[in-house]
Amino acid sequence: MTKHTSYIGGKWVDFGNYKPNLNPANTDDIIAEFSYGDSNAVDQAVLAAQKAQNGWANATPQVRHDLLEAIGVKLADRVEEYGTMLAREEGKTIAEAKGETMRASQVFKFFAGEALRLGGELQSSVRPNVDVEITREPVGIVGLITPWNFPIAIPAWKIAPALAFGNCVIIKPAGLTPGCAHIIAKLMDECGCPPGVFNLVFGGGSTVGDAIVKHPAIEAISFTGSVATGNNIAEICGQLRKKVQLEMGGKNPMVVMDDADLKLAVDACLNGAFFSTGQRCTASSRLIVQEGIHDKFVKELTKAVTALKVGDPLDSSTQIGPVIDEAQLQSNLDYIELAKKEAESVIGGERLELTTPGYFQAPALFVGTTNDMRINREEIFGPCASIIRVKDFEEAIDVSNDTEFGLSAGICTASLKSAREFKRRSQAGMVMVNLPTAGVDYHVPFGGRKGSSFGPREQGRYAAEFYTIVKTAYVFAG
Ligand code: UN1
Repeated sequence: MTKHTSYIGGKWVDFGNYKPNLNPANTDDIIAEFSYGDSNAVDQAVLAAQKAQNGWANATPQVRHDLLEAIGVKLADRVEEYGTMLAREEGKTIAEAKGETMRASQVFKFFAGEALRLGGELQSSVRPNVDVEITREPVGIVGLITPWNFPIAIPAWKIAPALAFGNCVIIKPAGLTPGCAHIIAKLMDECGCPPGVFNLVFGGGSTVGDAIVKHPAIEAISFTGSVATGNNIAEICGQLRKKVQLEMGGKNPMVVMDDADLKLAVDACLNGAFFSTGQRCTASSRLIVQEGIHDKFVKELTKAVTALKVGDPLDSSTQIGPVIDEAQLQSNLDYIELAKKEAESVIGGERLELTTPGYFQAPALFVGTTNDMRINREEIFGPCASIIRVKDFEEAIDVSNDTEFGLSAGICTASLKSAREFKRRSQAGMVMVNLPTAGVDYHVPFGGRKGSSFGPREQGRYAAEFYTIVKTAYVFAG
């Protein structure tokens, strides 16, 4: 059995207490075992980061660029190997897994460039012969807590900007997908990351995660995961006056207007709702369909959903991989039972027994639902979507905004007027016109409003807002 340990201060550190990660498409396939640390491991990581922080903050942009660029290049060179590992560990299809690995590579390369581009501002003072200089400095040691659903891309889009702007990192990946974080640690080691600049600690949320959030020397926390955990982190960070960035749930609406291109709308909804097994916080879970196109749309989408091939992610003909684990699958099945009571009808949604023991589920479509039903209020986080019939644009926008979340929102329409109105009135952080709500670019800001997100945006040059702190310097030349 392959055994992996935490990476602290440039060394592989064994804490015993090994836990396996499983292939959700075949639970007989144990991928590796990972040594779990606890709060002492976090203390060690903090000591290592403290030793490294000053040197890294003062490293030239060229040094930071070269490290991130080297990692980006290696991720792309080894996309086959790492993509396979990702698909095996997380269960998304091999095409999606390779795409995600490439995305991680692009993120590292993008932030390699950002390390060189970080600048400031020079303003004239209101006082004579005084200049005002506004610069951005590293925040210090940052704690990153990442989820299982994008196990290489999300760590990449937190680690890369953190390092680009001179911060040291302590990361705890999700227990279900430690293998991808281990890949990044291996690359850091291989590419000559100075000891202590990047530290990876495997462990549980209530032990390692909690210790990272509460450690007084960790200046900022970036978290992607559940609403409950995010809210708890926000509270603690508030008390400790730590910088905090949260990306949490979604209940993303996708509006289909009568004037939409039917094929385009069906494709966008199929992708947005079901690809990556619906396990994206940007997934389209409420399909809000105008009455004129409703029946045609339901017919075509039903055809497309029932034709989806659920199976082994490593088989290139598979379109939908397994659900991540038994608990998530059980939660999906509970919502599907609830939908059978709340909705007019339910298409698909049964547990599937395939040739290997795994967590397979047929994609589920809930037809004839209203926005007040629990299935339309709560995030399911699986291959399940509801259809809500509306009479016109006004009702569509109202239903779309009537949710506690606000991550992504989409509209399929041929009308410039409807598209423009939707963009302006949507209470979401990201708005898509004739595109799925999920699947975003790597070089522009990502994040939501309302219950979905808190703190500055991730990704693109907006990432500097979280990973740097502003200094205003006044200089009198005499
Ligand atoms: C995407 O839709 O391309 O956890 C990314 C998530 C998001 C990432 C979605 N933070 O699903």
